[in-house]
Amino acid sequence: MPRYYTITTPIYYVNSIPHIGTALTTFASDVTSRYQKLRGQKTFFMTGTDENATKVFETAKKLGKDPQKYVDDIAEEWKNIWKGLCIEYDDFIRTTEPRHKKAAEEFFKILKEKGYIYEGIYEGWYDVSSETFYKESELVDGKSPEGNPVQKIQEKNWFFKLSAFEKPLLDHIQKNPDFIIPEARKNEVVSFIKQGLRDVSMSRTNPGWGIPIPGETDRVFYVWFEALINYLTASDWPNGNWDEKWPAEVQWMGKDILTRFHATLWPAMLIGAELPLPKHLVGHGWMLMGGEKISKSKGNVIAPLDLAKHLIDVSGCSHELAIDAIRHYMGSTMPYENDTVFTNEDFEKRYNSDLANDLGNALNRTLAMCHKFVDGKIPSSPIEREAEYAVQKAKKEFENAMDRFRIDHAVHAYMELVRFLNKYIDQRAPWALAKNSDPALGAVIRSMLFVLRSVEGLLRAVQPATGDAISDQLKLEPLHDWSKIGEPEIVPEGHALGEPKPLFPRIDIQKKTMNKTETSKPTDEIQENDFLDIADFAKIRLRVALVQHAEPVENSDKLLRLEVSLGDEKRQVVAGIRSSYEPDDIIGKKVVMVTNLKPAKIRGQMSYGMLLVSADSEGKLAIVTPEKEMPEGATVR
Ligand code: MSP
Repeated sequence: MPRYYTITTPIYYVNSIPHIGTALTTFASDVTSRYQKLRGQKTFFMTGTDENATKVFETAKKLGKDPQKYVDDIAEEWKNIWKGLCIEYDDFIRTTEPRHKKAAEEFFKILKEKGYIYEGIYEGWYDVSSETFYKESELVDGKSPEGNPVQKIQEKNWFFKLSAFEKPLLDHIQKNPDFIIPEARKNEVVSFIKQGLRDVSMSRTNPGWGIPIPGETDRVFYVWFEALINYLTASDWPNGNWDEKWPAEVQWMGKDILTRFHATLWPAMLIGAELPLPKHLVGHGWMLMGGEKISKSKGNVIAPLDLAKHLIDVSGCSHELAIDAIRHYMGSTMPYENDTVFTNEDFEKRYNSDLANDLGNALNRTLAMCHKFVDGKIPSSPIEREAEYAVQKAKKEFENAMDRFRIDHAVHAYMELVRFLNKYIDQRAPWALAKNSDPALGAVIRSMLFVLRSVEGLLRAVQPATGDAISDQLKLEPLHDWSKIGEPEIVPEGHALGEPKPLFPRIDIQKKTMNKTETSKPTDEIQENDFLDIADFAKIRLRVALVQHAEPVENSDKLLRLEVSLGDEKRQVVAGIRSSYEPDDIIGKKVVMVTNLKPAKIRGQMSYGMLLVSADSEGKLAIVTPEKEMPEGATVR
């Protein structure tokens, strides 16, 4: 058994820099690695660049650059971008490195000795874009099945006897039901193999770039054949301790390179060389934009770091947290059987709802209430069973999801715990417990902190900077030990907490849209007789009021009962704002109130006024407040 839990990404062609689609595979691998590290596993996470491809060589030529200089420079760019996305790999393998040349040569020698390699003439088509050989019968309208142009080639090549591996491959897939994930793709692989495998070229005529076949100058390795060996190179094969790292526990990739390459050619090569097969191959779906796969050739790429810059512009969040927001988005929308569609609108909406609202409120309310009700110190009280149960449930769900490499389900598990925390606060209403000097207050506050602290631990693999920001505000050591999540010791009694600071400022989507529309164009359809006379308007008395107390109205999830001060008098108002405001969000705010509305009884409570509130098209509410500090009772006109 290898000593390391090895995780691989495909190695990327360096004819361009990463976009949000390619980042998806690397991100998934990073989450897997971080999670295993939290669990105490020694991990080995490798990624790198596929540099010997013809298309890489052609790109360098087009740019008028020396190919080696070109790949050296761009490999650095890739490393920097991964660093910017908080990707914590252990090895970055480049296929132009001498260690890789050595491994490819050795692998070739072994297969040759075992009789799996022979010379022959290849006649057919070649798609440079996907670096794939195609038979005439596979072409669609004169193009490759992916729709790329193809070149007719006739070459004297080395062939790999792939056809000899149909049965061993099918046997392995059958005996190891989790070898190929997800199930639907496993079925595709099985039918691909059952259609019959033909021997494949494993060399190409030397274009002046690539790893020469040992002892030859006129031929180089076919790039896919040699690229797949990178996983062995990075594991130190063929040197002494390679079996500490190989076989990999999981090899992540997109669906396009699963069937033909990673689930057929690669395991056949390994079986041929009598080397162990990876434990799991996960082929995820694509990220689409405008109905097409995001890819350089389609010209619809979004660079992840540009997306981060955009988010910082529209929300004002920090760089680290903008990166986390992208990671959160990729995790929660991670495609498996299907593809997912990226839109900026969805990205911003998810940021607002999951991070600014749900997570932001949970953190802010918990810390604010600790300061308000228990002097900012963790009370010496037991944790309530309900909170313990919710944490254990989320932890188990996260673990089960990661056992199946379902990052989307893992994100869902911690977001559900965040939502539980918000509901728990509403239901246990610490403000009411404090008001009535209820002895349960300490247990409720410690339970809130316990859930928040567990969220910090659970989200770390996906959102490492958010985890640090939460532990920072709690003034506790970062929770890096998975086994501690759910243990009461993570919220030590008597510990003094830091002040709450907002992490993910809300994006004002309404304001953004307004900025884009022409302000001179009349938008409201106001009829002549809809106009108000100024005297009519003057009948409405508007005044500034200070909200001194707020609590949910019993049996209603929409209403809050407020106690407000107009300076010279206090009033009770029932406001239908709970969809956007929890009691603690509004206590202490100055609002604008209609003071001469006929009193009304709402859900058994008298209301002596009405708050002014603006609403967006999704029903999100924002209360109207004076733009500057104004005294309680000031008039509004
Ligand atoms: N160089 C080969 C891999 C060799 S591995 C021995 C290659 N490189 S690639 O740069 O074209 O693609 C690398 C990975 O990025 C693949 O897993 C591919 O599926 C993934 N993606 C590229 N565009 C993508 C999307 N739009 N969406 C999701 N994944 C995408 O293939």
